[in-house]
Amino acid sequence: MSITFVPSSSAFWLDGKGVSYAFFINDLGCAEHLYFGAQIPHADLRYARTSGAQSTLTSPPGKDGAESYQNVPPEIAFFGTGDYREPCVQIETAQGDRLCELLYRSYEILKEKPPIPGMPSLRGGETLKLCLADPVNGFEADLYYTVYDDASVIARRVVYRNGGTQPIALRRAYSFSLPLPDMCREALTLHGAWAKERQPERIPLHHGVVSVDSKRTSSSATLHPFLAILTPGTTETSGTAIGFSLVYSSSFVLKAEGNPDGTALVTGGIQDFDFRWTLAPGEEFAAPECVIAYSDEGLGAMSRAYHDAYREHLISPRAAHAVRPLLINNWEGTQFSFDLEKLKAIVDGVVGTGIDTFVLDDGWFGKREDDTTGLGDWVVNEKKLVGGLRAISEYVHEKGMRFGLWFEPEMVSEDSDLFRAHPDYAIGVPDRPRCYSRHQFVLDLTRKEVRDTIVESVNRILHENRIEYVKWDFNRNVTESFSFGRAPGEQQQFAHRYALGLYDLCERIIRANPDIFFEGCAGGGARFDPAMLSYFAQIWTSDDTDAEERTKIQYGTSLVYPLSAMSCHVSDCPNQQTGRTVPLATRAVIAHLGATGYELDASRFTDEDRAETARQIREYRACQRLILNGDLYRIDDPHTGGFFTVSVVSKDKSEAILVCYRRFGSVNNPIKRVYMAGLDPARTYRVAELGLTLPGAVLMRRGLVPAYPDGDFTAVVYHFTAC
Ligand code: DGJ
Repeated sequence: MSITFVPSSSAFWLDGKGVSYAFFINDLGCAEHLYFGAQIPHADLRYARTSGAQSTLTSPPGKDGAESYQNVPPEIAFFGTGDYREPCVQIETAQGDRLCELLYRSYEILKEKPPIPGMPSLRGGETLKLCLADPVNGFEADLYYTVYDDASVIARRVVYRNGGTQPIALRRAYSFSLPLPDMCREALTLHGAWAKERQPERIPLHHGVVSVDSKRTSSSATLHPFLAILTPGTTETSGTAIGFSLVYSSSFVLKAEGNPDGTALVTGGIQDFDFRWTLAPGEEFAAPECVIAYSDEGLGAMSRAYHDAYREHLISPRAAHAVRPLLINNWEGTQFSFDLEKLKAIVDGVVGTGIDTFVLDDGWFGKREDDTTGLGDWVVNEKKLVGGLRAISEYVHEKGMRFGLWFEPEMVSEDSDLFRAHPDYAIGVPDRPRCYSRHQFVLDLTRKEVRDTIVESVNRILHENRIEYVKWDFNRNVTESFSFGRAPGEQQQFAHRYALGLYDLCERIIRANPDIFFEGCAGGGARFDPAMLSYFAQIWTSDDTDAEERTKIQYGTSLVYPLSAMSCHVSDCPNQQTGRTVPLATRAVIAHLGATGYELDASRFTDEDRAETARQIREYRACQRLILNGDLYRIDDPHTGGFFTVSVVSKDKSEAILVCYRRFGSVNNPIKRVYMAGLDPARTYRVAELGLTLPGAVLMRRGLVPAYPDGDFTAVVYHFTAC
């Protein structure tokens, strides 16, 4: 990894694992992009600049005849001075003009990557800080670029500053611009809904803008804060894939624009719809980080670049490579209907299986018997749980297990003591009724006194009880974005201030309780984003626990996130969401492709159920480090065929597993051959299930024919050990 400035060509070179990034300061004084791609030797890349001076183009301000900004591949596109492409930033000065020209001023190469105050971002990596400023109004932008030795990504972000003497409003404050040399490409996005999160979709780029966004004050299940731009026909193993993954949990936008000259420009960051942030002289605004991954070996290598970057530089180091709690959660088993005896019976049901954590889900607090009451009252319901949390926690610990508890810290029920005492703590506009969702309101995290109340009540429960695990849920979207106490001109700061408030809560609850393991959740996987991953080492992937649906959800999620980030549970059948029945063995195989657990009424376990669960857990334990830390290779896509196949290979290629799932059984189907991926072709592997020892090259080239059990929704797993 290195960052170099070449004075003879005014060029900056950033070299990371397998990638190079180059730009230079041109005659106009702006940062002009030269290259992003596979690592190349340093050369003067200006020979291949594209210049398209046309009579209809406008010159830069005051420079008649000079190259138009429209022709410059920009490191940061700005508005109002001749460039009509999607700007990265738009300002409004005190006199109402919206112009800016961001020209080079200075640079610094930082050995220590500076954190973003109040916002998560990747750790480590050498960083270039490029300082640009407007020559007239004093508006400034510092562009940060970070490269890594161990992941083929470049992290980018911007800090905007008012270096002038009058207020300047930010009307758009994105995180990056990245020009691409041609627009003959496809966009890959992840769309979804509740119980159908992160479904891949491919669309061609066209003249104009392709975009994904959220206006929900959360990263959302609907469109994910991720976009990849691919050369046409890119597969898992071939083609160029450039990914853009925003480390942000609130409303966002990512855009790819096809331009008249055949180039493309990618940009994005904080959603600028309903956004306006005024900077007084001297004030600055930090945009969130975007992690840009590069692969010229298809989508698989792009995903592995993200997995490496997020495991090594985002997820808490304490949890990133640690063995995860293996839990039983009572939600699908009981929902709100439980008492102490029922919970004890569930715990008894799993004793001896290898499950090491019991998680008590929703319904233990306030007067909560269903989803209409109690949120915000983080006081145990002793009528339901005789003896309080202490009784169940002690029982769990006596059985040699750890105790986990569910919270939904950001929410309040209308029927709660908290709402009765502080109705204004719920987000809302005075004199207007609020929208309900799951009968609840969202607390105004933009206000410190609201956050203080949440921190005090949640931390009190965590400190007064022996709790080793917390599931942090978030079950509705924000409406009525308005905060009591903020000036009218500040109301469009709401969505970003909510994110900052959320990060502050996470610091004061999660970081302040380092011995407790926190799992994220949002009515399933509706806030599964890199910023949340920096606090929650694993996130509940979806409320849909049906193994067939999970193959698609987990496949899509794996485009950006490592298996260790995905919380996946074995549940009962018929499945609560789909009504489908899938063999128990298959449910375990699919749920074990992540941070696993069980979510069912184990009080009804028979001895056979217990023995089968114990067997599954022994199998999981035998390869959990491989699953959590290994390299993932997607082989068959369940979205495009009847199979879901992946391999996971240890970093040193000494062991691997191959997981093969078939949707439907039938007679006389074409033979399904699976080509193992990711092994060392030069090494020899023992394949336990085949009782054979074969060269890696043979297993990958000749493949194998999986012995799927008969019937629908079946799976088979093969284990490989290098000799
Ligand atoms: C939604 C979550 O996704 C579920 O797992 C469960 O915790 C419920 N909320 C509880 O209300």
